[in-house]
Amino acid sequence: MSDPKKLFLKTYGCQMNVYDSERMAEAMAADGYVLTESAEDADLVLLNTCHIREKASEKLYSDLGRLRPLKAAKPGLKIGVAGCVAQAEGAEIKRRMPLVDLVVGSQAYHRLPAMVRGEGALIDTDFPVEDKFDLLPVRVGSRGPVAFLTVQEGCDKFCAFCVVPYTRGAEVSRPAARIIDEARGLVARGVRDITLLGQNVNAYHGAGLGAAGDWTLSRLLREMAQIEGLARLRYTTSHPNDMDDDLIAAHGDLPKLMPYLHLPVQSGSDRVLKAMNRKHTAAQYLALVARIRRARPDILLSSDFIVGFPGETDQDFEDTLALIRAVGFGAAYSFKYSPRPGTPAWEKAGVGSDVADARLLQLQAVITTQQRAAQELMVGRTVGVLYEKPGRMPGQMVGKSDHLQAVHVTDHAGKVGELVQIRVLASSSNSLSGERISA
Ligand code: 5AD
Ligand code: SF4
Repeated sequence: MSDPKKLFLKTYGCQMNVYDSERMAEAMAADGYVLTESAEDADLVLLNTCHIREKASEKLYSDLGRLRPLKAAKPGLKIGVAGCVAQAEGAEIKRRMPLVDLVVGSQAYHRLPAMVRGEGALIDTDFPVEDKFDLLPVRVGSRGPVAFLTVQEGCDKFCAFCVVPYTRGAEVSRPAARIIDEARGLVARGVRDITLLGQNVNAYHGAGLGAAGDWTLSRLLREMAQIEGLARLRYTTSHPNDMDDDLIAAHGDLPKLMPYLHLPVQSGSDRVLKAMNRKHTAAQYLALVARIRRARPDILLSSDFIVGFPGETDQDFEDTLALIRAVGFGAAYSFKYSPRPGTPAWEKAGVGSDVADARLLQLQAVITTQQRAAQELMVGRTVGVLYEKPGRMPGQMVGKSDHLQAVHVTDHAGKVGELVQIRVLASSSNSLSGERISA
């Protein structure tokens, strides 16, 4: 038998891309490809791209440039571009970088194996009507204890800065039965912690089980909580306006639904929120946070923030800092506004790079303080930890707490996939450490 063909896969951007990359690797495995850690060994290099901010797509073009000598030395090497840059720029990528052999948009992955075999178009950015995941091969073999599962793709919210409604398309939800089957399959392979993924995941409205019409995300979570062997559920990313009463109630009702919620607000200024087309105010967000905390008092919240959106004044930025102080986040991701072609905000002038840089630093300092305070609060407490891998020190295990904080535990008998109770002994800049107190 000849050696298996080798696939080098690089993933940029969000968890959705990580999930998509796993599924593409599985699809190519069915065609005899094994993963390799180095592009030099590969027969196929796939770059799964992100288009959310300018830097993300610049990275693609510089990585492609670096592949030039490799392609020259190995003419049989195929280079493919997948993901949101592929979706947004299509044939333009091949024009700018002729070394690229194929361009597969984020909705055409089920056609990737055929494209690599040389059957069909070499540029595919169609939006199919089928569930692309349903057309990819079923997963087999064991895997780690933590997994993502895409339940919904695309977004109809059209925030003024965001490319997602264009690159991922309109909101589409997968049927509940397929999601539950996929979750059971993951659990059978050793998964104990599943995060349901979607660009606007809490807008989920997939075909339900039985004849009763579409299900909401809370209905899906309630059903999934009954899967035996599955210990933890999370979901991301949510829009504040889609947090309905039953979803909030689920945080109080379902012990498997972990006390951590990523709920981006983007800004704390009503003027900026309006210009961003977010369709909620700062006060509405704060009221929502209060309702969620009534359902699950210990919940840890995280958010995304954009600084330097066109028209953002010093006062607007102060309003954002005030919102951050009022909420007290456990974590947050913050970005300098990046104008994206084709979005409503594209033509508007930003605030200037220096101003945005200074605001970003200031905001991140406040968030870091809050993140450390949230960690400090855990010291002395007993928390659940799922071991994900051995640590760097002998006898050390690394995992995540229920609140999604990184934890290092000294546990010579610990095994990957074990869910244990630990006592938190200390908090360092980005993680907790503790000792195991039970099986
Ligand atoms: N510029 C900066 N940040 C952006 N995000 C989305 N689009 C942009 C943009 N054009 C951020 C938002 C979003 C996160 C995934 O990325 O905060 O929630
Ligand atoms: Fe983009 Fe999220 Fe707004 Fe949808 S809700 S347009 S994905 S920022």
